[in-house]
Amino acid sequence: MEKLLDLISKEVMDAFEKAGYKREAGRVSVSNRPDLCEYQCNGAMALAKECKCAPINIANAVSDALKESRVFESVEAVMPGFINMNLSPAFLADYVVKMSESDKFGIDLPKSETIIVDYGGPNVAKALHVGHLRPAIIGESIKRILKFMGHKVIGDVHMGDWGTPMGLVMTELRERKPDLPYFDESYTGEYPKEPPFTVADLEEIYPTASAKSKEDPDYKARALEATLKLQNGVRGYRALWDHIMNVSVNDMKRIYEKLNVEFDLWNGESTVQYLIPDMVKEMKESGVAYESDGAIVIDVKKDTDTKEIPPCIVVKSDGASLYNTTDLATIKERVIKYDPDQMIYITDKRQDLYFEQVFRAALKAGLVSDKVTLSHIGFGTMNGKDGKPFKTRDGGVMRLEYLIKDIQDKMYEKIKENKNIDDVEARKTADIVGLSALLYGDLSNQAVKDYVFDVDRFISFEGNTGPYILYTIVRIKSIISKYKEQGGDLSTLKIGTPVNASQKDLMKVLASLSQTMEGAAAELAPHRVCAFIYDLANAFNSFYHETKILSEENEARKGEFIALINFTKNVLEACIDMLGFEAPERM
Ligand code: ARG
Repeated sequence: MEKLLDLISKEVMDAFEKAGYKREAGRVSVSNRPDLCEYQCNGAMALAKECKCAPINIANAVSDALKESRVFESVEAVMPGFINMNLSPAFLADYVVKMSESDKFGIDLPKSETIIVDYGGPNVAKALHVGHLRPAIIGESIKRILKFMGHKVIGDVHMGDWGTPMGLVMTELRERKPDLPYFDESYTGEYPKEPPFTVADLEEIYPTASAKSKEDPDYKARALEATLKLQNGVRGYRALWDHIMNVSVNDMKRIYEKLNVEFDLWNGESTVQYLIPDMVKEMKESGVAYESDGAIVIDVKKDTDTKEIPPCIVVKSDGASLYNTTDLATIKERVIKYDPDQMIYITDKRQDLYFEQVFRAALKAGLVSDKVTLSHIGFGTMNGKDGKPFKTRDGGVMRLEYLIKDIQDKMYEKIKENKNIDDVEARKTADIVGLSALLYGDLSNQAVKDYVFDVDRFISFEGNTGPYILYTIVRIKSIISKYKEQGGDLSTLKIGTPVNASQKDLMKVLASLSQTMEGAAAELAPHRVCAFIYDLANAFNSFYHETKILSEENEARKGEFIALINFTKNVLEACIDMLGFEAPERM
């Protein structure tokens, strides 16, 4: 379906043409004076200069040409030459009915693409912490938005699973249990199926090892050696690495699940190591990469750059590959395996320059064609109320699991406070609503901006929050179930022409859905979906407060109200699903 604003603009453009003016002037926008009108066109003012006539004359002629239009209820030319318009309620109702009867609410879907979203990006062997919240939930929402728009989307967690942290863990393990067969290079038997540590061990081992290596150069050297052994495929080290991966990945899955975050691929830096030697060789042979101070680099600066873009280092001077190398090889692998139209990376915005270098190097080396869009969504920092990066009360880094639990516990207290509700149900509801508070609190901010993590605000049932949105959905559900209890049948209902201003407003917000979705998908911007559902929830609540719905005596009209709020609920539910949460039955 065509977007509502486009339909309206077309109507006004036709009128400009009919009145003898050029159509381009007829572009309409939503009124910035909603007290005066719903839509406005300022084209007459711009035209007046060109055709040297009074803008009000043009506006009058256009208004006359719109007299018979079925799109508008009223059209008025006002000094010095504005055209103010109000939409015809019947036209609006028609539009919303069509939306409600169409697949995907009548949104025109773009050509379907294959899109890889690279998000999450945790480093293995460390517990997930608050820093892992944003990449996970922003990426998940972008993935869901693109899926909704009909794309084939592949989410890759892309773990950091190949560097020194691995060598550190192995070294510390060796200190503690030197007799394990993994460290015996003459051992040829099978290695144990059971890992020689638990997640809890692992989480303690890594920081210990990391601290030791900072103090003890000898320890550090052993850790580097262990890393090298792993990378060279020494059997025992590979077996140990498999254990580390299994234990960490299972734990990560458990926590991501609490956030409703799910990946299609559990790949990481290790996945593409097999591609690196040939890739580097080809880069050198083609001359794209060259030696500089012992390292292998690709120049990526352009004449048009306004800031310094340093070369992309492909191999370090000691011969080791690095973050860049695996990212380049990953691009190569993705092109071979999935032939994607787009690759989208979600990380902290401090990696902006890094990705710019990698993207340019990949293109220059021919790993990817210029038909493939590579983009980096860099997000800002989650701050505490003091405006500094979020910390625990004692200044530490909070584990992601505790952050989630904390907000769900607070939600539970709140739910228990208000109602006499069974404990098990209160817990279940608190988990769902608490998650909405966390996700919405984050996603409602433009990703690139820093924001303040304010639990008390996030869990509020009022204002621009997840719980407010859910409360609205639950309210609609409850009206609908009462309607059904009274013998109402939803399947025969149809949305009707609005009978009051708040009903019309609600329909106007609904009609702007395709505009919102188009923008959200193009800009990869979940916050636009949040802004839309906040408007929609507000519009519904105004309608609800100003209109007797269930007690409406005219049965036909009551049915039209129910059809409208049911459609509102469907749209809200589809939108929160794109943000990664759902609504409970009651709250
Ligand atoms: N592990 C990286 C980090 O902790 C993030 C990975 C992002 N994805 C990528 N393909 N580089 O910063």
